[in-house]
Amino acid sequence: MAKPEKFVYVCVNERPEGHPKGSCTLRGGREVLMAFAKEFEQQDLFGRFALVQTGCMGPCFEGPIAAVFPDNVFYRDLAPADAAAITKEHLIGGKPVNRKVMEDRDWK
Ligand code: FES
Repeated sequence: MAKPEKFVYVCVNERPEGHPKGSCTLRGGREVLMAFAKEFEQQDLFGRFALVQTGCMGPCFEGPIAAVFPDNVFYRDLAPADAAAITKEHLIGGKPVNRKVMEDRDWK
């Protein structure tokens, strides 16, 4: 298997209802993960890119969170529909979807 060009990490960490930090799963992280999987499947992108479900990456309050490496780009407040734009514009096109990029100053 060739090394993927990029890795997409989607947070599916889950905390109990009422936890003060909340969690990406409670905000829809699993639906975002499934939307990426659908895009990859439909466009035959598995292998070229890797899709990884992961635990908490830190900025829980901005979730659902996904990160694209090696670009070190974090996406915030994702909805399933954003997976298509990120796949097309960032993974394939090479340009991050700025309206969803988490700026360094947003890290809390
Ligand atoms: S729970 Fe997803 S970043 Fe913390």
